[in-house]
Amino acid sequence: MTRKLTKTVTVIASLATFTLCVFLPAQQPAAAPSEAITGQSRDNDQWWKHAVVYEIYPRSFGDTNGDGVGDLNGVTQHLDYLQQLGVDAIWLAPIYPSPQVDFGYDVSDYEAVDPQYGTLADFDRLLQQAEKRNIRIILDMVLNHTSDKDAWFVESASSRTNAKADWYVWNDGVPATNTDLTDIQRSNVQTGPKGQVVPPNNWASAFRGTAWTWVPARQQFYYHKFYAAQPDLNWRNPQVERAMFDVMRFWLDRGVSGFRLDAIPALFEDPQLRNDPDPRNFGAPGYTWDLPEVHDVLKRLRKMLDSYPCERVLIGELLEPNMSKLDLWYGGTAHDELQLPMDYFFGLPGILTGSMLTGKDKLNASFYRNQLVGMSTQLHGSRPFLFFDNHDNVRSLDRFGDGTHNVEIARVVAALLFTSPGTVQIYYGEEIGMLTTTPTRREDVKDPVGRALWPQNKGRDGERTPMQWTPGPQAGFSTNPDTWLPIPPSAATTNVQTEEKNPDSLLNWYKALISIRRSSPAMRDGSVAIVDETNANVLSFVRTAPAGAKPVLVVLNLTSAAQIATIDLAKVKMGPGDPKTLLASPGFQAPTVLNTTSISLPSFAVWIAEID
Ligand code: BGC
Repeated sequence: MTRKLTKTVTVIASLATFTLCVFLPAQQPAAAPSEAITGQSRDNDQWWKHAVVYEIYPRSFGDTNGDGVGDLNGVTQHLDYLQQLGVDAIWLAPIYPSPQVDFGYDVSDYEAVDPQYGTLADFDRLLQQAEKRNIRIILDMVLNHTSDKDAWFVESASSRTNAKADWYVWNDGVPATNTDLTDIQRSNVQTGPKGQVVPPNNWASAFRGTAWTWVPARQQFYYHKFYAAQPDLNWRNPQVERAMFDVMRFWLDRGVSGFRLDAIPALFEDPQLRNDPDPRNFGAPGYTWDLPEVHDVLKRLRKMLDSYPCERVLIGELLEPNMSKLDLWYGGTAHDELQLPMDYFFGLPGILTGSMLTGKDKLNASFYRNQLVGMSTQLHGSRPFLFFDNHDNVRSLDRFGDGTHNVEIARVVAALLFTSPGTVQIYYGEEIGMLTTTPTRREDVKDPVGRALWPQNKGRDGERTPMQWTPGPQAGFSTNPDTWLPIPPSAATTNVQTEEKNPDSLLNWYKALISIRRSSPAMRDGSVAIVDETNANVLSFVRTAPAGAKPVLVVLNLTSAAQIATIDLAKVKMGPGDPKTLLASPGFQAPTVLNTTSISLPSFAVWIAEID
């Protein structure tokens, strides 16, 4: 495998001929970068279509000041690692000042950096150093809500007459004597100016209980889709949109490459405040999610981003149950909303069936065949955004792993991700096989979700543990033994330093896949042709090649049993050819001739081959 890696890396260097794009404030001409560009190229022509995006949870990546919490300098320190991995862009989970009730998703100042993570100067240095390595920075942008400690909310909550009185979603409530109340309303009785009142409807917080909290100073309830410390902004007030667009300009002017829009379908609520049909089902259609008004905001936002050079990108967090719903979020045929809807349907199939609560997912050949076909037939040329892991979910290794073949399964999952025709996102530590390390005692839990729902739901701490860099103290994450979340025991063997030395490690598998994806035109832009439409255990498809390039065959055994793959290339209108293996799982004897043929695949085998 080491030999194959060397080959693909050579191809990358020869492809690095794209136009450079240097981030300067709008209207200024782009200048040449001060240092030579190495590694990834500044492909400015829809760069986001081919990007590998790496999500960093800033508390957990690298701690340079020894306080046990990660910081921005800790990200800068590890940029060389990310460059060698092949990362094009970093998505930073929120870095803004925050009381950290929801670890940054409760922002109290949108135009600064939380002192725990550093300063604006540290951020600028990160941007500059990342740019030297052709790595872009994408910020998480929380538009739906602020922290209750944000000056906007503090002012808004102080009276009914202040300048920001209408910046949040306020309501007087309804009389507690009404006869048509729901249980969730009855659980929140307050004393208002005209007697006892309850919230106006049954809306529930995604983090448990009622979504309405009482403020005595206003004698009113405010609405919060998430935690009470995360009041929802009132996007029907144009001043809110103006203020938030200004915030985004502040960061675009500094040189960020775009935003991941947190919980974007939650932006608007029903003005008639109608009861949700299924209030406890977060993300279900109703009156607090997916309201059409959000699309008008996205169109204006996209226009604003498009006024900047270097193709700034909008990635939106969604929860659509199937692919056909995504078209709307791209902006239909006008393509004037999100470039990349971040939906769960590909990497978290369990979220659609409710099995997420058990923390288990399944590699199902027909499901993934349908998804691959859907990407070509249902998105009308738009680009899917694919991922398996993020900071909100049990890591894929635990969801898909069977405890016996975990590394083999992780290889298949990664191969599926990187050979699919989409923009790809990975989550720090996924590339080395980090496990979810869930707290065992409620008093250790940091995530509000885990504290509120213990023990049915132990929260998201397990997937947010510190990055495992070395087998040494604190896994090389920090000099402080008191890290904000404990270092998992697996760090002794699962860490960057150890895996870099092992040619068969998961880390080197990721590097190889990223490298192939970057260097093969079929992998970059080819469409998908399914080779075997019925096999229940094996997924095999061809990434067809643009003119002059070679198609690539992908064969994945999704089971722990040996399987036979039937490779009939005629089915995908290709003649027999000599396959050139680009990557194969260790121990798999790749065929040297390819005709209508049956191939024996050992358990969880992966074969990726160029066809001459
Ligand atoms: C983020 C979560 C966060 C929530 C509220 C999400 O979708 O990914 O981590 O708790 O929004 O902001």
